[in-house]
Amino acid sequence: MERMAVYPGSFDPITNGHLDIIKRGLRFFDRLTVLVAYNPNKSGLFSVEERMELIRQVVGDDPRIRVDSFSGLLVNYVRDNGAQVILRGLRALSDFEYEFQMALINRRLNRDIETVFLMTGYKWFYTSSNLIKEAASHGGSVRGLVPEIVLQKLQAKYSTINGKG
Ligand code: PNS
Repeated sequence: MERMAVYPGSFDPITNGHLDIIKRGLRFFDRLTVLVAYNPNKSGLFSVEERMELIRQVVGDDPRIRVDSFSGLLVNYVRDNGAQVILRGLRALSDFEYEFQMALINRRLNRDIETVFLMTGYKWFYTSSNLIKEAASHGGSVRGLVPEIVLQKLQAKYSTINGKG
């Protein structure tokens, strides 16, 4: 049986920390769906389509990886797509409580699905999409924290928003 996992997140935008989890996850899973899970009532910096396109560009042409989007209950997506595992990255201790709660509610909702955590690489310990956006919005350099294409898109987005575009 193929081992299939779903790696869900907002991915607004994808960071090098996410990429690290994707690459390491593929050592354990035959197929990985990178899932842009979104709330239709909340808008992000990047549209869902832009986020998916950025993910596609940075993961390249790997037949083991699928990029998809979904708004709804995550465990239903996982079940309907024949996967058994939700993959999440854990950064600092501050992630733990939220992730623990999410894993428990997901397990309560569907006991056939397990959440598996990978510790983030130490280089990405304190980085998050939100902090990266905040730094970039004020003109701070986030080079090295996100793939080059994401860096360009962030700069373009903020120069438009800040009226320099
Ligand atoms: O990158 P994020 O923002 O930490 O990702 C959180 C995400 C999208 C994985 C989480 O909010 C989620 O699973 N949303 C879908 C709705 C759902 O199933 N929630 C958990 C059970 S109530």
